[in-house]
Amino acid sequence: MEKQTDAFQHYGREVAASIDAVKKKIHDEKKNRSYIPFGQYPIEKLEVELEAMIKGKLGIEDSDFVELGHAPAHISGDLCFEVFDMAKRHGKNPAAVALSFSSCINEGKGNMIHEASAFGGFVNLVLHKDTFYHQALACSEALGDRFGENDRHAGAVVVIDYSAPNIAKPIGVGHLRSTIIGAALANLYENSGYSTIRDNHIGDWGTQFGALIYAYKTWGDEAAIEREPIRELKNLYVRFHEEVADHPEIQDKARNYFLQLEEKNAELANIWKRFRDLSLRDFGSTYQRLGVTFDLTIGESYFIDDAHRIVNECLARALCRIDHETGAVVVDEAEGLPSFLLRKKDGASLYMSRDIACLRFRIETFNPAAILYVVGNEQELNFRQLFSFCRRAGFLPAGLAVEHIGFGMVLTDGKKMSTRRGTLIELEDLLGQSIEKSKEIVARKGTDGSSDELDAIAHAIGVGAILYNDLKQSRVKNISFDWKRMLDLEGGSAVYLQYTVVRIHSILRKLGEVGTVDTYRFEGQTEFALARKLMMFPSILLKAQEANAPHHLCTYLEELASAFNTFYNEVSIVQTEQHELKTSRAVLSRAVARVIRRGLALLNITVPNRM
Ligand code: ARG
Repeated sequence: MEKQTDAFQHYGREVAASIDAVKKKIHDEKKNRSYIPFGQYPIEKLEVELEAMIKGKLGIEDSDFVELGHAPAHISGDLCFEVFDMAKRHGKNPAAVALSFSSCINEGKGNMIHEASAFGGFVNLVLHKDTFYHQALACSEALGDRFGENDRHAGAVVVIDYSAPNIAKPIGVGHLRSTIIGAALANLYENSGYSTIRDNHIGDWGTQFGALIYAYKTWGDEAAIEREPIRELKNLYVRFHEEVADHPEIQDKARNYFLQLEEKNAELANIWKRFRDLSLRDFGSTYQRLGVTFDLTIGESYFIDDAHRIVNECLARALCRIDHETGAVVVDEAEGLPSFLLRKKDGASLYMSRDIACLRFRIETFNPAAILYVVGNEQELNFRQLFSFCRRAGFLPAGLAVEHIGFGMVLTDGKKMSTRRGTLIELEDLLGQSIEKSKEIVARKGTDGSSDELDAIAHAIGVGAILYNDLKQSRVKNISFDWKRMLDLEGGSAVYLQYTVVRIHSILRKLGEVGTVDTYRFEGQTEFALARKLMMFPSILLKAQEANAPHHLCTYLEELASAFNTFYNEVSIVQTEQHELKTSRAVLSRAVARVIRRGLALLNITVPNRM
């Protein structure tokens, strides 16, 4: 009997160790982590000042309503904000509100604002440019690599459930999207002060393992499995489905195997564990290529016992019922959502019941403020049912935000990829293709270096292209691959941003050491505009995190890079005579490179040293 549970015990110990490590990480961060106060950034400071000047005016007591942006080109301001929404909320005319606000601001002013004026529903601000410019560069210099971090959610814990591929199958493009988006969100949440738990809820349980075990026991070829585990397991699974057509009775055998597995039959558990280990080893090398990491890799199988216990508890509380005809456990229609099963008629647990158990586990173990599920749009109903059921059952504590972060499909030629049509691109192939194409770029540009160096550069460009193509598009939409656009050196791609950073570094190398000055100076509008753009970085990061929308960051980085390239075409830093001005320009350029590099790092994209 002891031997019966070996595979599970072993696995349980692995999981327990990783849970302890996560608890320790949260504990240590609570105690030791230092945060950068969001309020210290020039733009945020200004927003708070403006709100203080306006508050109470016209009976408007809102807070956090000023969102500064660039004044549109046809208006001669440095920054502006709009009052449309807030005027509407108070049933007032936007133009009148803007006018009244601007006169308040002109009375208050402070040391940064030169003049305010109204233009329709906009309030435009002309700044004391010198003061702003100096503060901007001083702030970025003082914070260095940490410029952009904020403390908005300091101390809160977030669990981000992403990637979650199914074992014994190759990682497909759907799971790739989850991996890319989830990893970026995890970084953005961390940037906002959260203690982040990166949780890979792998699909390692379900009736399909009954079929796979049957196929393995019947046709399995150990040597082939050892060589190419995922491919071979996939083939076995496909073979099972081919054979079912002529031998329907094997379906029952498979079902029976799965039931025995749920009962932790030792022989079957060892086979299953082997599938799991081989798959994780394979996934691990993909994650390494992508530069993605996890704090937890638990998987559905960990939650079967809890799932059974919880279903019984819910039955006792009449939150669900046994269907008399089938014997399955059903949750009836509620809150406009269709009914669903919590237990199969043969007594097996389900994706849903394992998810309920997992949700409770996360709450009890980590006390998170938020849990994000980064899973394709096609599971939207599933998550609405999960959340609504858990709320009714009282499993969700007040103040916990659970959210399904959906995303669209990956299309090729406007069609969904499918295994049957042979249009399914496996992730490894996709990465391989992208790296090959990047090698061509490197060769075309005539970059020199050892072949290892060139390979590393092509790797950074190729992987970056895939990640960026995904993240720059709005998450919920379907996306497609367009190699030409993905590897466009002129803009709209990771390689454009990577190249901008490399170019700045080569300018800085030419300049030699960047000295210091007491006051940062600028001459023309383009360098002022560049510094102003730079100062938007902290707010953009916060916005991208709060909206779960990494594409805001991509848009921003492209605008920043293009503002830099305009500056670079207009101004020669090397030939600048005046010391203060030259140093300021070098500092500004270095700050831009730092922001692009950091922005890309948050998207898990690296920048090679040379290109
Ligand atoms: N493995 C699942 C699938 O491929 C995704 C799991 C997502 N996470 C969750 N907690 N349900 O469909």
